[in-house]
Amino acid sequence: MDEIKNEAMETILQEAEGEAEKAESSRALYEVKMKFLGRTGKVTALLKSMRDIAAEQRPAFGKRVNDIREKLETMIADLEVKMKKRELEKKLAGEQIDVTMPGRRREKGALHPITRTRNELIDIFAGMGFEVFEGPEIETEYYNFTALNTPADHPARDMQDTFYITDGLLLRTQTSAGQIRLMEKKRPPIKMLSPGRVFRSDDDATHSPMFHQMEGLVVDKGVTLCDLQGMLDEFAHTMFAATSKTRLRPSYFPFTEPSVEVDVSCTACGGKGCPLCKGTGWIEVLGAGMVNRRVLENCGVDPDEYTGFAFGMGIERIAMLKYGINHIRLFTENDVRFLQQFKD
Ligand code: DAH
Repeated sequence: MDEIKNEAMETILQEAEGEAEKAESSRALYEVKMKFLGRTGKVTALLKSMRDIAAEQRPAFGKRVNDIREKLETMIADLEVKMKKRELEKKLAGEQIDVTMPGRRREKGALHPITRTRNELIDIFAGMGFEVFEGPEIETEYYNFTALNTPADHPARDMQDTFYITDGLLLRTQTSAGQIRLMEKKRPPIKMLSPGRVFRSDDDATHSPMFHQMEGLVVDKGVTLCDLQGMLDEFAHTMFAATSKTRLRPSYFPFTEPSVEVDVSCTACGGKGCPLCKGTGWIEVLGAGMVNRRVLENCGVDPDEYTGFAFGMGIERIAMLKYGINHIRLFTENDVRFLQQFKD
């Protein structure tokens, strides 16, 4: 066999082995493989050069080249397996997580005191058979005032500083509007609870331009003021304390006749007299009364056949009394130090 060719073969083998050993990644190893065994690789070129070799030397030459090729292929295949294993181990090590490490704590939220109070009120009255009906926040003058026996020139309109949107449209000042909307749709017997946001141009420690009310309406045959008081006692016992008492004082609302203001025995002193109840032992919590016959007539309900009572309370006011909150703004400031106190 040609001495020079033989030497070249040995050099190529050594070169290939050396480079393959040094390859540090599968990618680098692949490149070595291509450099020697690929279509234009050095070993392949040796095979191609066979035709320049004297016929009698060809078998020996071919055998030698094939040996080299096989040797290289096996070596590279072995290295590839090792390389893949090493690379996988490295990847897994990089992705390792320590399951014993303490997790990142997620703060648990809590219901806003207004939502909480609202839900509590709904629970109390739902237990007595009331169903919830929610009216729109943007109301017409008709539903907010006129149908509630408060025509345009009625002085009672001044009791509520209204935000008007256009001539006949306003932000509802009271959830009482829901009474009319429901009675137009549903015939008695009615037991409705209507919670929602209301709006008035008013702002001090106990008033805010947006607040929440809960309206109640009961219409049926033979409903009396006694039924109202009995139900309010039940409400006070569950909402405030088992020993809470209620009392009715005469008042005026255009949509009720007679109208009453309802007091509960003071939530701070229990009725003995303290700064919160200004020494009286009583705290006003809601307005109520027997539904005015004009209101029933406006909704097509016969006032000679049916009677009813209605009540309306401020949810902020109830929450302030129940939780001893002294400024209405706390509800809308979203201070977590305040809100945190209402976690279960
Ligand atoms: N709507 C009244 C207000 O906002 C509260 C009220 C009083 C509602 C008497 C009633 C009621 O249903 O009968 O001041």
